[in-house]
Amino acid sequence: MLPINNGKERIHQPNNNKMLSKQEIKAIESWVFKMWKYRFYKTPRQMASVASKTLKFKYKMIGNGLNRVVYDLNNGYILKIALSELGLISNANEASIYNNCKEEVRKYLCPIKEHGTGWIIMKKVDTKVSNPIKEYTKLIKLDLKFLRYGIIPIDLRLDNVGFTENNEMVVIDYGLFTMNLINPVLRWLVL
Ligand SMILES: Nc1ncnc2c1ncn2[C@@H]1O[C@H](COP(=O)(O)OP(=O)(O)O)[C@@H](O)[C@H]1O
Ligand SMILES: [Mg+2]
Repeated sequence: MLPINNGKERIHQPNNNKMLSKQEIKAIESWVFKMWKYRFYKTPRQMASVASKTLKFKYKMIGNGLNRVVYDLNNGYILKIALSELGLISNANEASIYNNCKEEVRKYLCPIKEHGTGWIIMKKVDTKVSNPIKEYTKLIKLDLKFLRYGIIPIDLRLDNVGFTENNEMVVIDYGLFTMNLINPVLRWLVL
């Protein structure tokens, strides 16, 4: 089941995670509970700013997309926090895909370390694309590889990939990927 509560009640999970403190996890849960009231009138950038004021984390914010704000944990990992319903789904989906996909494609997914309600911790990689034409060719090959192993790589583009120390391309945003057609992302897109 997805850890989504539609903002109706607070969910407190036991803290089996090691990278975030109990207080930090509580702050994220409280943000997830609050974020619903802003969702119709704030842009993703404004949402990221409200989230950061609410969370008051010591970490540096290194980016945001349409659905998540990203902090550098300064230990080789980054923390993604949901800014929207799709952000919640994306975090849960990334954890599920990383843990359930075939070995042959897992190496192309940026590794997930820990996750909980509204957040996920992922390895930090270099996101600079130095040669877009060359990388675009790699991206198309990657697209085909995912399809061959039963994953539909929705929203796979250069903005959503990074590079390991060995310069291997890995996907950093696979929140919208799907392994089956009754997946919550597709349900959300269709309904
Ligand atoms: N694993 C990562 N390593 C380094 N930077 C990252 C990583 N994941 C995300 N980022 C940064 O955060 C930004 C937003 O993350 P992303 O997962 O694409 O969020 P969204 O789901 O909102 O699009 C990325 O464009 C990138 O700059
Ligand atoms: Mg993205």
